[in-house]
Amino acid sequence: MKRIAVFTSGGDSPGMNACVRAVVRTAIFKDLEVYGIYRGYEGMIEGDIKKMHSYSVSNIIQRGGTILKSARSEGFRTPEGRKKAYENLKQFGIEGIVAIGGDGTFTGAKIFFEEFGIPTVGCPGTIDNDLYGTDYTIGFDTAVNTALEAIDKIRDTAAAHDRIFFVEVMGRDSGFIAVECGIGGGAEFVMVPETKTDIDLIVKSLKNLRKTKSSSIIVVAEGGDEGNAEVVMQKVKDKIKDKNKEFKVTTLGHIQRGGSPTARDRVLASRCGMSAVEGLLLGHQFHMAGVVNQEVCFTPFADCIGKTKPIHPDHLKLIDILSI
Ligand code: F6P
Repeated sequence: MKRIAVFTSGGDSPGMNACVRAVVRTAIFKDLEVYGIYRGYEGMIEGDIKKMHSYSVSNIIQRGGTILKSARSEGFRTPEGRKKAYENLKQFGIEGIVAIGGDGTFTGAKIFFEEFGIPTVGCPGTIDNDLYGTDYTIGFDTAVNTALEAIDKIRDTAAAHDRIFFVEVMGRDSGFIAVECGIGGGAEFVMVPETKTDIDLIVKSLKNLRKTKSSSIIVVAEGGDEGNAEVVMQKVKDKIKDKNKEFKVTTLGHIQRGGSPTARDRVLASRCGMSAVEGLLLGHQFHMAGVVNQEVCFTPFADCIGKTKPIHPDHLKLIDILSI
């Protein structure tokens, strides 16, 4: 293998730049030529591909977003789009790919490998932490800390006004962000898609809590079964029936995706990026480079997207016990 390409795809995550840097520098260290594909699969289809050098990735390790830009490509979902992408890669002489992204990225990579056989190794780049085959994904730690900082501020004003706040966090269909910032932020409740929500139980507990606490924080993961934070707040408010109690909703949204990556994310991104290039040279063809129990491991894309990584039950227990 003499020439590889790297791209970022799907929702961006803090640390993607650190990962691109690691891929480019490791490739050059190993005497490979390395190309950057812009806007993920979209750029692959359009041939937006440029040679990268060591200096192309200078001064980016600390930056959020991705210098290669990102996109969710509709075109790549079609056989015609993928064929066009393959033809472009052939034209550039690309023999291996590093794909940085989440489950959508790896679903595309798996199909593309099955159709055209270009070896691809993935790096787990998503704030959601919803990939099997790695304890943490690149960007998750930064997103949790961003959400936590916001929750700390909300707590100040919630306490000052004796209000109940429902704070919605991202995570798509998983509750990892909600659970970690819920524990760290001392939330009274955390609602996650992985478990069924009992609104009556929340109402009962909030009524009990009123004897000891005048304000509460409820973290709502965006993919929960009872709806978004606004809907949940309305349901709880209707059942509490207390005209003197004030309820507020804050949706944190895309601030969770931005910002300078934490040290933990930079280290994880650097490790995964370096390992992805080494993995290609070792012969991995449809695997993600993740870190499990401190060790780098390669997991087939099918497992990364098909198997579920559960939330540790102790984390949910912690919230119940510590919120009394
Ligand atoms: O997958 C990352 C993520 O931020 C999810 O947490 C969220 O549901 C989704 O992307 C939002 O996507 P978009 O930026 O396309 O609205």
